[in-house]
Amino acid sequence: MHLLHIDSSARPDRSDRSRYGSHSRRLSDRFVQRWRAIRPEDRITYRDVGQSPPNPVTARWIHAAFTKPQQREAWMHAVLAESDALVDELLAADLIVAGVPMYNFGMPAQFKAYIDNVVRVGRTFGFDRARPGDPYWPMLAGMGKRLVVLSARGDHGYDPGGRQAHANHVESAVRDVFGYLGVTDFDSVAIEYDEFADERLNASIAAAEAAVDDLAGRLLKDAAARAAA
Ligand SMILES: Cc1cc2nc3c(=O)[nH]c(=O)nc-3n(C[C@H](O)[C@H](O)[C@H](O)COP(=O)(O)O)c2cc1C
Repeated sequence: MHLLHIDSSARPDRSDRSRYGSHSRRLSDRFVQRWRAIRPEDRITYRDVGQSPPNPVTARWIHAAFTKPQQREAWMHAVLAESDALVDELLAADLIVAGVPMYNFGMPAQFKAYIDNVVRVGRTFGFDRARPGDPYWPMLAGMGKRLVVLSARGDHGYDPGGRQAHANHVESAVRDVFGYLGVTDFDSVAIEYDEFADERLNASIAAAEAAVDDLAGRLLKDAAARAAA
């Protein structure tokens, strides 16, 4: 299998190594280390969009992306080079493990820039306005890809049923976009209470780490079963 490990926190270090480090990096690293320990032969690609954000979409990018590949001029290929590389990485991955913290109720701009670069007509979704019924179709469907989102929040109560669940636009937005591309197998875990830095944060970290271990164990079992089939 091939893992694509993405981090998007602006904080470069992990909270298990540094006092003001990132919790989402801590969780994504934990998941990947668990995976690597059991399946050292699997390929892991790391993409740190928190430290090296992809370029945002521009008018030239849109012009290039919506020009048919055989009609593209040299400058269009150059403008799309970064996006093409990110799409190639996504196409090669079986499992995407993304650290995506909550910034102002949504995903960080760094991760949104990543998404804007991988949602590409003709590469990750199809569009044909002449197609009867639904002119859009997901090009990554049926490839067995799955997505794990590992998040962190300063406040609490953002999980389903919580006091602020209605304001959480992180997991739902990421899930919807990847679902649009055809990646519909989705799991998530989050740490809360970062802003409080008290025993509730410690309890949330412990619970999230246990949930990550469970999730990694479950997905490792699935991978082993698929390999044996
Ligand atoms: C720019 C910014 C905006 C934030 N907005 C929210 C928010 O809307 N709700 C919330 O609960 N926490 C918010 N936080 C707190 C972060 O979600 C929290 O610090 C989290 O742990 C950051 O992820 P990281 O630990 O992976 O860096 C915000 C933090 C920053 C830096």
